[in-house]
Amino acid sequence: MIYFDNSATTQVNPAALDTYNKVSKEIWGNPSSLHKLGDRSHQLLEASRKQIADLLGVKPYEIFFTSSGSESDNWALKGTALAKKEFGNHIITSSVEHAAVSNSVRALEDLGFRVTVLPVDKDGRVNPADLKAALDHETILVSIMGVNNEVGSIQPIKEISEILEDYPNVTFHVDNVQALGKNIWSEVFTPRVDFMSLSSHKFHAPRGVGILYKKAGKMIKPLIDGGGQEKALRSSTENLPAIAATAKAMRLYLEDEKQNAKQESQVREKIMTYLKDKPGIHIFSQDNDKFAPSILCFALEGIRGETLVHTLEDKGIFTSTTSACSSRSGVEGSTLSAMKVDDSIATGAIRLSFDPSNTVEEADKFIEIFDDIYQHFAEINHLK
Ligand SMILES: Cc1ncc(COP(=O)(O)O)c(C=O)c1O
Repeated sequence: MIYFDNSATTQVNPAALDTYNKVSKEIWGNPSSLHKLGDRSHQLLEASRKQIADLLGVKPYEIFFTSSGSESDNWALKGTALAKKEFGNHIITSSVEHAAVSNSVRALEDLGFRVTVLPVDKDGRVNPADLKAALDHETILVSIMGVNNEVGSIQPIKEISEILEDYPNVTFHVDNVQALGKNIWSEVFTPRVDFMSLSSHKFHAPRGVGILYKKAGKMIKPLIDGGGQEKALRSSTENLPAIAATAKAMRLYLEDEKQNAKQESQVREKIMTYLKDKPGIHIFSQDNDKFAPSILCFALEGIRGETLVHTLEDKGIFTSTTSACSSRSGVEGSTLSAMKVDDSIATGAIRLSFDPSNTVEEADKFIEIFDDIYQHFAEINHLK
């Protein structure tokens, strides 16, 4: 099997799974309980929080645990909008956000917030000048992702941060679910970022943990009220086994970040070199430092993405279509449509997403198998 679907989810690291099992068996008290079992759990919870904070270069009290990247995004946006509604009602986002952000923004629009959705260029990147022009005295929140999950483009978070230096009252949220461990951290997480979302299952931790970085002093309303966990901002009993495993997985994932990103780049470059200049093939990701090394999105004209995904699956290669949306065309609202890729081509797009464990030999095998498919379709579709 060749697994090229790491942006969808990653396989749990065995060491992180060991931590999960060990904590489930041995440190199972509720961190809020007053007795010693609770104390032990509380200590481990705070040790995990500190480890994650240290790895991200922030303070432990700035790390909040949620259930997923989606929840972190929902909370950052809705919680900020609710907390700041007296100060303004304008929200700015991009046209290529994950649905957890774009649908949260839509929900806020239904509640009466005014929304500006920034366009993107042919690489799926927003123009900081457009953001500057969109800011007004009612703007309370800007939410722009670090790395796009469909094509891999890195958004100009640094330039946006510089612009937002002049607007200290505007909250800046970055969805970095696809950006961790890609050796681009300083590009996507600047001191100007107020909120930032991560998701455990994208870096080999078990599912069920989201992280929300909340800069000290930033206002947010809770979305989940209850027993007052997470400083009364996100109630519910903490998922300690998965949180401890997340801290472990993150440490291991970031251990050799530079080398890992290089490995992913090599796999991507190999496949991209093969795909380049082939009639009927459209490549939407680029082999440069404006794209994360982990994603390669392309389309083969005349064959639907779903068909290609299943054809590759039959040969033991796991990939995905780019858009999880369920609209009729299958591309409406997707990054490719925001990039103004023609629908007839966008419906053929698939995404390969890599991990440091993928090898150049796997890339060679992919090329061999894909080439068979390509030759067959190229012939019946007269692409040559
Ligand atoms: C950019 C981005 N944001 C948010 C999410 C949602 O994360 P989760 O699956 O943990 O809810 C994803 C998941 O694919 C993503 O790629």
